[in-house]
Amino acid sequence: MTRLSVNINKIATLRNARGGNIPDVQKIAVDCERFGAQGITVHPRPDERHVTRKDIELLRPLIKTEFNIEGNPTPEFIALVLKHKPDQVTLVPDDPNQLTSDHGWDTIKHKTFLQDVVGQFQNADIRTSIFVDPDIEMVEGAKATATDRIELYTESYAADFSNGKEEAIAPFIEAAKFAKKIGLGLNAGHDLNLVNLNYFVRNIPWIDEVSIGHALVCDALYYGLDNTVQLYLRELKIS
Ligand code: PXP
Repeated sequence: MTRLSVNINKIATLRNARGGNIPDVQKIAVDCERFGAQGITVHPRPDERHVTRKDIELLRPLIKTEFNIEGNPTPEFIALVLKHKPDQVTLVPDDPNQLTSDHGWDTIKHKTFLQDVVGQFQNADIRTSIFVDPDIEMVEGAKATATDRIELYTESYAADFSNGKEEAIAPFIEAAKFAKKIGLGLNAGHDLNLVNLNYFVRNIPWIDEVSIGHALVCDALYYGLDNTVQLYLRELKIS
């Protein structure tokens, strides 16, 4: 079954709005695991407007499932990841001031750079994943970096879902089939939610992991965190 990794950045954003420790990011991470999430994702940004370096230090010994740190592999990011040795690092080409990730890597143009970064993390026994658009050439380019996995950027799927889910998912099925054929592990994320998640994993059941933040945290306002994690896990069931 596809694993659910909860991205807790939004929890940190809420906490940072007041400067205290409410909500408690570490407690929420541990509770997400207790409620059934199989992973926790954080996306530190240089200005620490979401999770902070201190959060990562505190979270590392608490996370008993899979800890995934995602971000742009600047020298500072690489040092942070190598220091805390998460289970997985996801490389994302986002600018420091970007609201959220909005494109995958050009894995051909940045091949040498990515190869070097992937090598550094793999030498430290950290699984690597490269964020890519659903584009065969980019998937093939990712393979050439020796990464363990790719993460498909699902924003376009989510945006087009209500206009025609068959067309919306078509490029993702093609990219996912190709990734499987060439031996890449497969993650997916961005704008996945309770409406579009099940259709995605039913059509691509070999996805290893989805990472979900924004919609899950928003749903928790209505349903509560425990229920919401259960609801997402239910959507991941395909039989
Ligand atoms: N994957 C990556 C690489 C991301 O940057 C994000 C957002 O931080 C997500 C997944 C999760 O997206 P969302 O918050 O829309 O669920």
